[in-house]
Amino acid sequence: MTRICIVGTGHVGLVYAVAFTLQGHTVVGTDVDAAAIASLRKGKPTFYEPGLSAALAKARRTKRLSFSTEIAAEASAAEVVFLAVGTPSREDGSIDTSYVESAARTVGEGMRAAKGYPVVAVKSTVIPGTTETVVRPALEAASGKAAGEGFGLCMNPEFLREGSAVEDALHPDRVVIGCLDKRSGDALARVYAKLRAKKLRTDLRTAEMVKYATNAFLATKVSFANELADLCDAFGGLDVDRVVEGMGLDARINPRFLKAGLGFGGSCFPKDVRALLAAGRASGYESALLRATLDVNDVQPRRAVALAEAAAGDLRGRRVAILGLSFKGGSDDIRESRAILLARALLEKGAVVVGYDPEASSAFHAVVPDVEIAPDAASALAQADVCIVHNDWPAWRRLKAKDFAGMRRKVVIDGRRILDRKAMQGVELRVLGG
Ligand code: UDX
Repeated sequence: MTRICIVGTGHVGLVYAVAFTLQGHTVVGTDVDAAAIASLRKGKPTFYEPGLSAALAKARRTKRLSFSTEIAAEASAAEVVFLAVGTPSREDGSIDTSYVESAARTVGEGMRAAKGYPVVAVKSTVIPGTTETVVRPALEAASGKAAGEGFGLCMNPEFLREGSAVEDALHPDRVVIGCLDKRSGDALARVYAKLRAKKLRTDLRTAEMVKYATNAFLATKVSFANELADLCDAFGGLDVDRVVEGMGLDARINPRFLKAGLGFGGSCFPKDVRALLAAGRASGYESALLRATLDVNDVQPRRAVALAEAAAGDLRGRRVAILGLSFKGGSDDIRESRAILLARALLEKGAVVVGYDPEASSAFHAVVPDVEIAPDAASALAQADVCIVHNDWPAWRRLKAKDFAGMRRKVVIDGRRILDRKAMQGVELRVLGG
């Protein structure tokens, strides 16, 4: 059992706070956001994530999970401190490490009085070199101790998917432990000792790069599938899902993350690919492949608009319903959602845009206020000329022709290739990728 302090109770920090508790550790989740901590103390998660509420309740019942705004004090009492704060994108795509740096400074202050060999582990996604050149000096300056002597340092990337984050944290398939020295790595290995996951020990920079390499590859796979979909449309008479199914039979090609559609969004893929591209550029390397991954991704929403125009004509004054506003089904997160680009492109065409999402409607409205929000799918579709299915909530898979009966004209664009085509008699269905 390890005494753990987690700095940052967002999508990553909170999920790990809960998971580490359920794995037998004693955990305190800390944050500068007093309102978030107050809510967590009442057992209320500050965002939607399937299974999180129940897992949080279960973790609290163990009495080994607490929440606090006293970051320095809590860090001073911990054996392992995880930094799980955000690294938002700057204008040029590079990451802003100021939260990581200030969290490290606060933790360092707390570690002044700490005894033994506390280990600080960076969970935030950071460009190779950041743990060494930003986190380490901040910790050393604030604590008055040297890394490798007074405290240990690790980089331990997270691979949580929204929608299955709790499961991913409880049962990861791999754990990457980048460490400054063996002692630091051993402390972190103890945290994960009970897990059956494959464990890889590396140096700090490699662990940082593994995270970017993983997300850049998965994002590129998605863009590859989207490029194939575009080619299938250009050639005609092809169904990209069948093509991908055939590819996936080759054992060297994993069929996952080859689902074509409106492109990738979310808090990681677009940001991480942009950051890697920007960091490469800053180091004198221009990545043509990563550039193309982003370019293909940005084109997909416009392709859906073009399909709508081809089917319904000029969109000026037409009512277009978007079903699904979060970046993917099962999440209320609208960060980098392709629905934002889609809605803006439609508004530019003069369309009247109405949207509905089971969880993300109000967050979406705050970002694109010109989109009307409907209370349910049927109201969104009422009197619409076009419907674009943007994300992959399971409810969309169950839609049938009669669900579109209220539309003025039944042009439906399946942006995620999830509608049951056999159930769409009487609907003018258009699918990205044939
Ligand atoms: C991703 C990574 O999977 C996770 O390991 C990392 O820690 C954070 O980023 P997440 O952003 O939650 O997780 O979503 P994910 O399920 O990976 O999907 C990302 C985007 O790609 C979504 O917009 C999704 O719709 C899209 N996608 C995914 C596709 O378009 N096709 C696919 O085949 C897979």
